[in-house]
Amino acid sequence: MKVMMSLTVNGKLETIAVRPGATLLEVLREDLRLTGTKRGCDHGDCGACTVLVDGEPRLSCITLALQVRGRRVDTIEGLAREGYPHRLQEAFDREGAAQCGFCTPGVLLSAAALLAGNPHPTREEVRDGLAGNLCRCTGFQKIVDAVEAAARGEGDR
Ligand code: FES
Ligand code: FES
Repeated sequence: MKVMMSLTVNGKLETIAVRPGATLLEVLREDLRLTGTKRGCDHGDCGACTVLVDGEPRLSCITLALQVRGRRVDTIEGLAREGYPHRLQEAFDREGAAQCGFCTPGVLLSAAALLAGNPHPTREEVRDGLAGNLCRCTGFQKIVDAVEAAARGEGDR
């Protein structure tokens, strides 16, 4: 049996029928076809599935879709605005902060939430803000460099 629910995804109201046990990750990827949100560990350990719920980072693999009924969800597909990349996306590009890119959507959303609450974080605060997002490729230095560059307003948007 499915249950009807509404939520706002990237600014658009969606009304969908979901299994009560469906995760937010499943609904985003399979029902709404927003495949930018990645399934890594599927157990809350890697951060690849991070999305924003009412502006706060949330692991969508361990969040039931029904828990976000009526809430605002932002995914990586909603980060760019009016065809222009977000300043974090520009900084990641410039600094070479994405390699395979699998972790990148989750990292970008965690970083966006961090900068929204703390526009000028220290390097330590950037590391803390991204502590839940694992990256197997970059060694993390370039990711932190990119977030710092975005915080300085380079490529500001
Ligand atoms: S896929 Fe959700 S934390 Fe790894
Ligand atoms: S760029 Fe490959 S896991 Fe982060």
